[in-house]
Amino acid sequence: MSKKNCSAEEINKRQAQTPFLTACKNYIDSNPTPFDVPSHKMGRITTELASITGEDIFHCDFNAVIGLDSLFHPTGVIKQAQDLAAEAYHAKKAIFLVNGTTGGIQIAINALIAAKEKIIVPRNVHKSVINSIIFSGAYPIFVQPDIDRNTGIANGVKTEDYVKSMDENPDAKVLFVINPTYFGVTSDLKTIVDLAHQRGMLVMVDEAHGSHFAFSDKMPISAMDAGADISIMSTHKTAGSLTQSSLLLIKNTEKIDVARIMRVYSMFTTTSPSYILLASLDAARKLMFFDGKKLVDESIYLAEYARRQINRIPGLSSFGLEYFNCSSRFARDATKIVVDCSAWGITGFQLFKLIRKRFNIQLELGDINVILAIVGIGSRIEDIDVLIMALQNFSKEFYHVGHKQIPFHFQLPQPELAVRPRDAFYAPTKEVIIENAAGEICAESIMIYPPGIPLLVPGEIVGTAEIELLDYYSKNEGFLLSDSKDGYIKVVDQSIWYKADQLNYEYE
Ligand SMILES: Cc1ncc(COP(=O)(O)O)c(C=O)c1O
Repeated sequence: MSKKNCSAEEINKRQAQTPFLTACKNYIDSNPTPFDVPSHKMGRITTELASITGEDIFHCDFNAVIGLDSLFHPTGVIKQAQDLAAEAYHAKKAIFLVNGTTGGIQIAINALIAAKEKIIVPRNVHKSVINSIIFSGAYPIFVQPDIDRNTGIANGVKTEDYVKSMDENPDAKVLFVINPTYFGVTSDLKTIVDLAHQRGMLVMVDEAHGSHFAFSDKMPISAMDAGADISIMSTHKTAGSLTQSSLLLIKNTEKIDVARIMRVYSMFTTTSPSYILLASLDAARKLMFFDGKKLVDESIYLAEYARRQINRIPGLSSFGLEYFNCSSRFARDATKIVVDCSAWGITGFQLFKLIRKRFNIQLELGDINVILAIVGIGSRIEDIDVLIMALQNFSKEFYHVGHKQIPFHFQLPQPELAVRPRDAFYAPTKEVIIENAAGEICAESIMIYPPGIPLLVPGEIVGTAEIELLDYYSKNEGFLLSDSKDGYIKVVDQSIWYKADQLNYEYE
């Protein structure tokens, strides 16, 4: 059946179906006798896990069942469910993922970029992007995001900075955009997509935090609506599916080699995908198609209410629309509440921990000057009031007129890339004390977590600015993710490396 020129009624009728979820239900109802894995045999035996999940989760846990299609060569109910997701998200093709957006980014980068090809990426990309660049052997061209001088948070990349990078690297194959950042800020995506396409580049979008954008006109434009070629989104974060389930969306099936994506997909994905996760994607798509607008708009309403109340609390500020006035802060996801607590004389790291300890409120993250609270489609007004009450309470303790601001430290590193990340990652390495590492080639990824911004990636030359930042973060409660023991950094052991080179060792 051609889907062209379908009436709204026909589309609604189609979207009301849940082909994969329904097939799972039918399989359970048929009461099969299982002689396949998993060994709990649809819950005939359960473990203590059932004390938090109930026994039903075992009953629904099966995979590779006749009639339930194959994730790697879908022709039946998985294909039908994916086609419905593509329609709901305005894509040509949708692929279900069971290892989050992390897995989707690994697949997309490794399928579309060969060793030594260039990818233009914002410096504040998630670690999955850096890791995929290591696997693929691509050559990253970093562009700097705009750093907010007051809060220290990394926002979008200015259009002119993308243009400069594209003009300097006309041979780049892919331009990578984050839509939105962890803090809900977007670049001018539509303009950037058009400019990249004019130069013959593909546009890949990390929409880990944007899977609800397609459903409300009060949200920034989605990657598919902006005409981007490929997007990977964590439907589990903002669109109601279960943790780990994500979507890979393709707009332009003429430009993207879908067969190659599927080959790489099967290389990076478990052969035992959880059907519970897949069914959750099917169900969440239906929920968002019919109720997404209402749910997202309600979340915005709650977040705006919270923001108004928080801005009345002495010493706190939470930015609103007035903040969005340039191409690096082009639009925003209003459901992200960023609260600057620096005038209280405590760090966001401290407030993040204290609010959990005293009020049992789990925030999304704490940073140097800010905390981030995310309002979601499941949030309730009572939850918002608890957050406001907790912050009002802290204000009595921490707000003193004239309190000194915490000195601002954050500067995004701009180290020089000496060799490709893959070369450095696979080179022989040694660990050196961080203070003695200046001039060495870094051989590991060192991330500030959250939000997962790379401080150094393999292949970059360690400079004094990076050493100072490492020192600051290790003393200030942010997590530094690295492979080395405390106080050390893994660098390329250049003495053996060059010897190995002479012996014609290959690092690719
Ligand atoms: C910007 C960004 N990209 C990608 C990811 C990875 O998403 P997932 O957790 O679904 O693997 C995250 C996770 O937090 C993220 O913040």
